[in-house]
Amino acid sequence: MLNFDFYNPTQIVFGKDRIADLAKLVPLQARVLILVGGASAEKTGTLAEVRQALGARQHETFSGIEPNPGFDTAMKAVQQVRDGGFDFLLAVGGGSVIDAAKFIAAAVPFEGDAWDILLKRGSNIKTALPFGTVLTLPATGSEMNNGSVITRRDIGAKLPFRSRHLFPQFSVLDPTKTYTLPPQQIANGVVDAFVHTVEQYLTYPVNAPVQDRFAESLLQTLIDIGPRLLAATEPNYDDRASLMWAATLALNGLIGAGVPQDWATHMIGHELTALHNIDHARTLAIVLPAMLNERRVQKRDKLLQYGERVWGIRSGSDDERITAAIDQTRDFFERMGIPTRLSAYGLAADAIDVVISQLEAHGMTKLSERGDVTPAVSRRVLEAAL
Ligand code: NZQ
Ligand code: ZN
Repeated sequence: MLNFDFYNPTQIVFGKDRIADLAKLVPLQARVLILVGGASAEKTGTLAEVRQALGARQHETFSGIEPNPGFDTAMKAVQQVRDGGFDFLLAVGGGSVIDAAKFIAAAVPFEGDAWDILLKRGSNIKTALPFGTVLTLPATGSEMNNGSVITRRDIGAKLPFRSRHLFPQFSVLDPTKTYTLPPQQIANGVVDAFVHTVEQYLTYPVNAPVQDRFAESLLQTLIDIGPRLLAATEPNYDDRASLMWAATLALNGLIGAGVPQDWATHMIGHELTALHNIDHARTLAIVLPAMLNERRVQKRDKLLQYGERVWGIRSGSDDERITAAIDQTRDFFERMGIPTRLSAYGLAADAIDVVISQLEAHGMTKLSERGDVTPAVSRRVLEAAL
């Protein structure tokens, strides 16, 4: 096992009817800016529940945070916080609203051009406003980590940053708040959580059996509940709860502690979203199977372990077993209704050059657990994903 620090101060408040707990979780004197996305929080009644729980606390709402949250939108919220003297942020939504809250929390006290936060990947954040979250879409794990991804559409950039100042103080996880999700967002959530787990598990062995078995249990749970969640005619509470907790655990630092981490699939996926507005999870479903095949030699031992323990693949030569494990992965994404080929999203070979030049422009030239995913490798991966 590698050396590691593990620090995660976020309080998780899980279960039915837990939004009422905001009355205890948010400081009494707080001046609260509630952050929401488009119309969903209002339409589903979640926003009304949140407002009721805040009671007499001073609060306003900022709405309009878009999926893959934009820098310009977040900066408008920064202005509202400064003008209104708000001192606490409450994100109500999915990963996009929570990521925007993290950026806003850091940008309000930031001196200088807030875009530098992205350019320095958050290393220049010295302090941030306190914030909590009410999660309505299980997928990203943003509710219990210190990372965020912000997009600037004018220059086609979607960049990640993180800081130890950006853990939510608390996150309310009520699985019934996911009942209104359309099937494609459920599918996105399952696939995003699956790929988060894979990016921290499917690297090379470092004798970390606790992390391995933990990751395998998350993958097996997602494989088990994913198709059932899509097929259900009525939402099933236990399956919704399992998805919510699995997605949180997939990216709260626990399974990634003490093991190598990859993230090449995510970084290439971010460029596809920035350029072509493809949902985050869908970009991962395009890139991951091709990436695993491209790096089957470097990932050999873990691919065999993954095939055997997660998919029950025990027969055939090593090469055949690895191919079967990758095929099963692709098939799982397709069964979740998510196409795994660029062509299914209307993209052909002529789209690849721009993706590669954007990766280079963003310094994404030595990706993966070994730093060996150069632009030339990324190009081969994208060509294989056509
Ligand atoms: O905008 P509204 O109207 O709220 O609708 C949203 C949005 O259209 C809707 N939605 C959310 N909860 C709902 C609901 N609709 C009905 N009922 C509900 N209960 O779902 C749509 C998608 O929401 P979004 O927040 O964009 O999705 P997701 O949670 O998948 O977040 C994606 C963003 O998170 C980033 C991605 O890159 C992307 O920008 N990620 C953040 C990470 C992190 N901070 O650790 C890690 C991830 O790898 C990822 O990169
Ligand atoms: Zn992701």
